[in-house]
Amino acid sequence: MKHDVKDIKLSGKGKLRIEWAGRNMPVLRQIHARFAKEKPLAGRRLAACLHITTETANLLIALKAGGAQVTACASNPLSTQDDVAASLVKDYGIDTFAIKGEDNKTYYSHIKAALDTRPVMTMDDGADLVNELHSKRRELLKGVIGGTEETTTGVIRLQAMANRGVLEFPVVAVNEAKTKHFFDNRYGTGQSTMDGIIRATNLLIAGSVFVVAGYGWCGRGLAMRAKGMGADTIVTEVDPLKALEAVMDGFRVMPMAEAARLGDIFCTITGNLNVLRAEHFRVMKDGAVVCNSGHFNAEIDLPALAKLSGKRRVIRDFVEEFTLAGGKKVNVLAEGRLVNLGAAEGHPASVMDMSFANQALSAEYMVKNSAQLKRQVYVVPEEIDKEIARLKLAARGTRIDKLTPEQVKYLNSYEMGT
Ligand code: ADE
Repeated sequence: MKHDVKDIKLSGKGKLRIEWAGRNMPVLRQIHARFAKEKPLAGRRLAACLHITTETANLLIALKAGGAQVTACASNPLSTQDDVAASLVKDYGIDTFAIKGEDNKTYYSHIKAALDTRPVMTMDDGADLVNELHSKRRELLKGVIGGTEETTTGVIRLQAMANRGVLEFPVVAVNEAKTKHFFDNRYGTGQSTMDGIIRATNLLIAGSVFVVAGYGWCGRGLAMRAKGMGADTIVTEVDPLKALEAVMDGFRVMPMAEAARLGDIFCTITGNLNVLRAEHFRVMKDGAVVCNSGHFNAEIDLPALAKLSGKRRVIRDFVEEFTLAGGKKVNVLAEGRLVNLGAAEGHPASVMDMSFANQALSAEYMVKNSAQLKRQVYVVPEEIDKEIARLKLAARGTRIDKLTPEQVKYLNSYEMGT
């Protein structure tokens, strides 16, 4: 099997949409142009387990221009854009294994197909590729020089592996770059999550009680956007510092047991397990909408909701209505999978530009430096981070000040006081 996509005839639409996204990815475009000349990834087999979107397509095309032999597979069963997958195969010669709505068995068969190419580099969003390599395909490990990881959840998993001494190759944590999480996690997730909820439900956000579970970078972005659209926004947290920040950012903060009674719309975005559980569903209002924007579909205890419910039906695309004893209805969006990619198109290209510039430059960094790196999780070098910010500002036409010689001297001294 060279590829597995829903319908290769969708490629025409996919190609146009890839071009459209590319227009808002000026930093990646510059990297693409340099890669095409310098071929820093020449001959490297690279397996990329990413959300197959128009933005990802632009990244994969840039990596291929850099000389990599790229194979792509989905990093989530519901996030694939089928027209993009088709175009990657037909128009760009990138073997792709991804179908929107694939079941778990197909999802893992697609990861297997990517690993069958014997990659020397991995590119992950959630660490499923690295995990499969370490658990089921250990014979391939010695050929791998290193990998990159896109998201918070993946970095947490990889760090756990490194801490236990079981990670077999170095990985660059793209998520930890400032030009990634300050922007993608905050503004990208904020906007795309609202987009997913609105596309799925067409509910009015203004005047609703909107509960955001988790106040990390993604939760901050989502709470900010919900508030901006006029929702009475409640934050739930387990970390006292983040909870305090949410309070001072102007949100109501309370335990989920209390928020569950008040919310009209709930979105989990914690990276943890069973954040919404039976005890919460039991006290929710009739018609409550629950969704998740964290990486895995583990944040809403759906088996518990199913157990509490007699009837369930899909009432509109990406909305499943559960009827609880007594007739109360709770609506789950996008099967509890990340609603921004399941029911919408993920983050806009302009923000993925920086995330994927980090991916491309981190892959190049790995090729140049893997021999010196240990089996650990590395942050993106600061020079790369700063360079991406500089290029992004330049592409926007935003100019900034430079320190004067006097200011440089002042910052390097301690003598001057009151
Ligand atoms: N993660 C969040 N949004 C994304 C997008 N548009 N493409 C790829 N990965 C994403």
